[in-house]
Amino acid sequence: MKTTKVLERMFCFIFFLLFSITNNVAFPLSTNSRWIINEKGQRVKLACVNWPAHLQPVVAEGLSKQPLDAVAKKIMAMGFNCVRLTWPLDLATNETLATNVTVRQSFQSLGLSDDISGFQTKNPSMIDLPLIEAYKSVVTTLGNHNLMVVLDNHLTKPGWCCRYNDSNGFFGDTFFEPGTWIAGLTKIATLFKDASNVVGMSLRNELRGPRQNVDDWFKYMQQGAEAVHGANPNVLIILSGLTYDTDLSFVRSRPVNLTFSGKLVFEIHQYSIPYTKIWSSKNPNDACGDILKILDDGVGFNLREFPVFLSEFGIDVRGVNVVQNRNLGCLLGWAAENDVDWAIWELGGSYYLREGVVGMIEYYSVLDSDWISVRNNSFLQRLSLIQSQLQGPDHQSKVNNLVFHPLSGLCMLQSFLDPTKVTLGRCNESQLWNYTTDNTLKLQNKSLCLANTGPNAPVKLSETRCSSSNLSKWQTISASNMLLAATSTNNSLCLDVDGDNTLVATNCRCVNGEDSSCDPMSQWFKIVKVNK
Ligand SMILES: *[C@@H]1O[C@H](CO)[C@@H](O)[C@H](O)[C@H]1NC(C)=O
Ligand SMILES: *[C@@H]1O[C@H](CO)[C@@H](O)[C@H](O)[C@H]1NC(C)=O
Ligand SMILES: *[C@@H]1O[C@H](CO)[C@@H](O)[C@H](O)[C@H]1NC(C)=O
Ligand SMILES: *[C@@H]1O[C@H](CO)[C@@H](O)[C@H](O)[C@H]1NC(C)=O
Ligand SMILES: *[C@@H]1O[C@H](CO)[C@@H](O)[C@H](O)[C@H]1NC(C)=O
Ligand SMILES: *[C@@H]1O[C@H](CO)[C@@H](O)[C@H](O)[C@H]1NC(C)=O
Ligand SMILES: *[C@@H]1O[C@H](CO)[C@@H](O)[C@H](O)[C@H]1NC(C)=O
Ligand SMILES: *[C@@H]1O[C@H](CO)[C@@H](O)[C@H](O)[C@H]1NC(C)=O
Ligand SMILES: *[C@@H]1O[C@H](CO)[C@@H](O)[C@H](O)[C@H]1NC(C)=O
Ligand SMILES: *[C@@H]1O[C@H](CO)[C@@H](O)[C@H](O)[C@H]1NC(C)=O
Repeated sequence: MKTTKVLERMFCFIFFLLFSITNNVAFPLSTNSRWIINEKGQRVKLACVNWPAHLQPVVAEGLSKQPLDAVAKKIMAMGFNCVRLTWPLDLATNETLATNVTVRQSFQSLGLSDDISGFQTKNPSMIDLPLIEAYKSVVTTLGNHNLMVVLDNHLTKPGWCCRYNDSNGFFGDTFFEPGTWIAGLTKIATLFKDASNVVGMSLRNELRGPRQNVDDWFKYMQQGAEAVHGANPNVLIILSGLTYDTDLSFVRSRPVNLTFSGKLVFEIHQYSIPYTKIWSSKNPNDACGDILKILDDGVGFNLREFPVFLSEFGIDVRGVNVVQNRNLGCLLGWAAENDVDWAIWELGGSYYLREGVVGMIEYYSVLDSDWISVRNNSFLQRLSLIQSQLQGPDHQSKVNNLVFHPLSGLCMLQSFLDPTKVTLGRCNESQLWNYTTDNTLKLQNKSLCLANTGPNAPVKLSETRCSSSNLSKWQTISASNMLLAATSTNNSLCLDVDGDNTLVATNCRCVNGEDSSCDPMSQWFKIVKVNK
């Protein structure tokens, strides 16, 4: 193709219909059915990263490695619009800890001398601040960079969270006295009343342990919600489920009863750990089907009425764990399809002190242990689609589609160089598709449809095949619902991607009872709705 023609084509291609996350949000936020919205009624999607500040030093991690400002800038540059910033209850309820211990003293008391010198160099204006002032300056700096903040009460006693019986897990535990908790929530809600970028509060992280029960959940969560709302009516009230925040099934039959409305959000966590047995005993399509059912039963049903905030999920981003990788692929399909609000675990690649280890490395992190370079760009790419807002309360009738490939984080698009071919490319550079009721995948505003041309051959965009031919019909099959099978082959060939990112059709994998050794992930596609 001639260069001019290529340029002309590329020019035509540049129609980015995905709304990027807006920086100029009109606060405060509230809810409209399942959407979080701003003052103007427009959707605001939370695409957050967790930033721990609840470990023993009670200082936001990483600040002995990089200046606060540089970290905030980097968070924005990586495409997040928000931080879920953790805090231990003691910071709110122990006045001495909050106001009479400085960052320097806190590090000193733990013998973290290297962090003192690092902090002195990187954040000299913070090192002699009392802990609560240091925490506030993190919130303020994030705000200066247009980053929203969700304050998450992670535990009571500063330290690593969360063991089943660490006495921090449920109302009535040694370190979890409901009255103290409510006083602490009230204090923090009040303290950040005028910080407009503090958009929400997670009332308590990962409820768990031998004491957990539904009646106390309702009793105390409602009390906590009323207390926070009374002190600060601006923040969204975010409620975590039982069993490490994996289960909110009990609110299906028993609604949360509050004196106010338009502020309630449910949060859920999803890691592969509780589901290792599912992933290692079943083929990945069946396993993903189980995971989707667990997600829907545990939280997904809320999406009819309330926003769902997937506030922790993550993997070792080196990609070394097969179960984690598959679980993430399955979860990303769900998150994209439902366009939920979310927060990845977690920001930085090290802790000052975790479980007795100084400088412990964290591999569930978007940044390296230097706290400024990206640990794995291909991991960030997998998050890029869900960083954008796909759906919202407006224009519900005008639904188009993207075809998302969770393994790469890319989307299916018409090739720039050969318009008959289809490749993977950046989702924000994808044309819109129309997956019609007769199972054709049609390029929006063009009479071109995706057609199967046989085993191991590239699929083609073809005008003639749009109409009647079954060569252009694709059905979602298997329990994962993420295989796109060619109807013309009796669903034996599935959409796949070759080494050059060209889309091809190959034998559908893991649909007939194979075991967990079978790997369908390159064939996983999710047809995602876009109504913007
Ligand atoms: C409050 O914090 C201070 C400083 O860390 C500590 O010495 C004290 O034991 C704490 N008080 C309680 C009741 O935990
Ligand atoms: C505050 O800290 C100083 C030394 O760090 C100590 O001497 C003083 O007793 C503390 N005050 C309170 C109220 O804890
Ligand atoms: C905590 O639970 C584990 C099993 O989950 C048990 O072995 C241990 O004894 C428990 N510890 C306490 C202090 O209850
Ligand atoms: C909701 O709470 C109010 C008190 O705040 C109470 O009067 C009312 O009966 C409760 N409703 C239900 C359905 O429990
Ligand atoms: C990044 O993740 C990919 C995919 O899991 C993996 O193949 C690669 O080795 C990772 N790179 C680094 C630097 O960890
Ligand atoms: C998608 O295609 C169907 C059938 O051709 C059509 O009725 C529908 O309006 C299209 N959707 C959009 C958003 O254009
Ligand atoms: C798409 O996203 C990438 C990275 O997220 C960015 O570099 C690129 O400029 C975006 N493309 C457009 C056209 O917005
Ligand atoms: C695509 O077609 C729709 C009607 O189906 C129209 O509203 C829209 O403006 C068109 N978009 C472009 C980029 O031509
Ligand atoms: C596809 O269509 C052809 C001709 O229209 C027909 O012979 C064939 O049986 C169809 N295949 C399937 C799987 O429906
Ligand atoms: C399609 O596959 C099913 C089961 O694999 C088989 O029973 C059926 O005969 C096949 N149909 C055609 C048209 O090949």
